[in-house]
Amino acid sequence: MPRQAYVNGRYVPHNEAAVHIEDRGYQFADGVYEVVPVFNGILVDEDLHLDRLDRSLGELRIARPMTRPALKLVSREMIRRNGLTNGFLYMQVTRGVAPRDHKFPKASTKPALVMTTRQVKPHSEQLLNEGLKVITVPDQRWDRCDIKSVSLLPNILGKQAAVEAGAYEAWQVDADGMVTEGTSTNAWIVTTDNRVVTRDATHSILNGITRITLLDLIRKEGYELEERAFSVDEARAAREAFITSSTSFVLPVTQLDGKPIGNGHPGILTGKLRQHYMDYMQSLRKTA
Ligand code: PDD
Repeated sequence: MPRQAYVNGRYVPHNEAAVHIEDRGYQFADGVYEVVPVFNGILVDEDLHLDRLDRSLGELRIARPMTRPALKLVSREMIRRNGLTNGFLYMQVTRGVAPRDHKFPKASTKPALVMTTRQVKPHSEQLLNEGLKVITVPDQRWDRCDIKSVSLLPNILGKQAAVEAGAYEAWQVDADGMVTEGTSTNAWIVTTDNRVVTRDATHSILNGITRITLLDLIRKEGYELEERAFSVDEARAAREAFITSSTSFVLPVTQLDGKPIGNGHPGILTGKLRQHYMDYMQSLRKTA
């Protein structure tokens, strides 16, 4: 089945999909995006993702490209046309195409909407059994990390630093030595007295949808939970660590800056939380 993309009202072959060179996303990173996981052909937490998209658009005063029902229709059509079962739907909205000028373009400029899908293999047993290596890097971002903007230079540089250090992710650290989040994931630890800790959702982090759903599951299961900042030192001394995102779900972290976390193996509670999250996705049914 040839891959198809959606570009401003048309379904086109993926390898021919293109936007105008004066799209403000291309020139200014003046846009926002969402990555919605697709599991067994179902969009996971679709409304939460669309709520966050609305919020990101609102904060940047970019108009909605279409109504929510229309967005849902196009999303389903993209899944159908691409035969997508497991992977994700990417959607990006920019302020549209206009002659290059920093200020907002004319009010009549239409926002640009692009969607792509990608089929992704399940996480390997090796990854789940060994866990991930994480490094720390200074958080160089602006103070509105709650907006899911396509402006991701510090994240890209952090992720590349991780790859070059043989690691999977970089945890960004603020000026006070506190971990904010990964470059494309939220950061979590489990303390030696079994408390699950993740940074509270302020402007310093992206409030991950996986984070929101996992917090609900943690509360339902009755685990001890603290939404607060934690330091790099506290992470080093933690019993367990893990990351969450729409593409990672819940993945164990076993090394931080070259030193083992806990006993150096994926944590027991982390494994349980991953299972709760996988069970949650498995329980979802198709909606219109
Ligand atoms: N990244 N923090 C950052 C900086 C992110 O970019 C992401 C998601 C998350 C986790 O959010 P969620 O659980 O909603 O996926 C946290 C996506 C997957 C990406 O950029 O590819």
